[in-house]
Amino acid sequence: MDKIVKLNLQATKGFVSEKELGESLGRAYSSFDTLVNGSGRGSDFLGWIDLPSKTAGSICNEIDDIVKRWSSDIEIVVVVGIGGSYLGAKAAIDALSHAFEIQLGKKSCPAIVYAGQNLSEEYLSELMDLLKDHSSACVVISKSGTTTEPAVAFRIIKNHLEQKYGKNETKRRIVAVTDIARGALKSLALQEGYPTFVIPDNVGGRYSVLTPVGMLPVALAGYDIRKMLEGAADMRKICTTKSIDNPAIMYAAIRNALYSKGKKNEILVNYNPKLQYFSEWWKQLYGESEGKEGKGIFPVSVNFTTDLHSMGQYIQDGERTIFETVLSIDKSNRSLTIPNDPQNSDSLNFLSGKSIDECNKMAELGTRIAHTDGGVPNIQIRISSMNEYYLGALFYFFEFACGISAYMIGINPFDQPGVEDYKTNMFALLGKPGYEKKARELRERF
Ligand code: PA5
Repeated sequence: MDKIVKLNLQATKGFVSEKELGESLGRAYSSFDTLVNGSGRGSDFLGWIDLPSKTAGSICNEIDDIVKRWSSDIEIVVVVGIGGSYLGAKAAIDALSHAFEIQLGKKSCPAIVYAGQNLSEEYLSELMDLLKDHSSACVVISKSGTTTEPAVAFRIIKNHLEQKYGKNETKRRIVAVTDIARGALKSLALQEGYPTFVIPDNVGGRYSVLTPVGMLPVALAGYDIRKMLEGAADMRKICTTKSIDNPAIMYAAIRNALYSKGKKNEILVNYNPKLQYFSEWWKQLYGESEGKEGKGIFPVSVNFTTDLHSMGQYIQDGERTIFETVLSIDKSNRSLTIPNDPQNSDSLNFLSGKSIDECNKMAELGTRIAHTDGGVPNIQIRISSMNEYYLGALFYFFEFACGISAYMIGINPFDQPGVEDYKTNMFALLGKPGYEKKARELRERF
């Protein structure tokens, strides 16, 4: 099989010796075994490894039914969710959408908007302004079914739909994606008779993009989820093969070799603003999987060339604890050429006839060289073009590499104990019954 995700490590050479990379590769191979044999910590959460084939088939058909059911009259779908129950869908839809589709107003599918990913009163109020004058529906996503942010947003949206359309019609306009049996959302869906999709027990939130968590919103937005799953399935074959040509093993090896040399921050770089939320998804995947027990590479992201004019100085010249991973797309989906100007008053005629993408590529190459010269090792990850197939492959590649990489530092990639602390404090401060003592303690401290 041709390489779907290509890894270029040339610009890491001066920073990690062959011996150091070889040692790290040895550790990556043994973490690969731990992952595929299910012998590591958190091994009851490895369901994502087989998702590309498990989600295909009947689940895609059920998703098609919802798409069809809403196609004639729904203008806006509100996707309610946070973290792993939101970022994958947003990453994929943003990457595939026309940048100005709202202003163009030409799309035949419903517009996808999001809620439950923050607690901003302004955001939610403005969303309600939007829903007032449009026919809307809601996909509410929560594995636990108890997360505060989406639960609060859903209560408001459900209330709006019931007021506007009545209880019966609202049932046609809500779909829940949640656990098979547990949680408040499951009970509510059962009680109200909402159609539901299941998030498998053995798949954690940030590994769930290839379940209905990601696939339902992506299909509603009009994109080909079968192609996305096909890309992921092809990538699965590559990632589950123990070989030097497995880019997931190599990526895990090189980032850990760099980490051992004091490069504690990894910046994911893109050169296409549509990938901003792909980076957000990646940050959650790596941050929540690896940041534990005082360990883990800190995942950061930038959007170039935009951020070269804000973060470029630091990356070139600041503290040398960073490395970059550049997400590079070989071929642009559109073509636009810089015109000739006979007057040349802006002195840009040396660019006449060149495509914008060629300028972008030269910015990318020039920046990679400059940053490497400035002491920032550079990993390049290349795909041929941006479409459903390659996105599916990238999702799978990064998940698999994350599993290997996290086992290399000896932590459980599949839990998130640190996320609970803020929740306990918030519940106490908001007066949740049972948290009274905690609330008193917190108020005394601040
Ligand atoms: O990766 C994770 O498990 C988390 O980021 C969750 O996805 C996030 O906290 C949302 O949880 P839930 O889907 O239970 O509402």
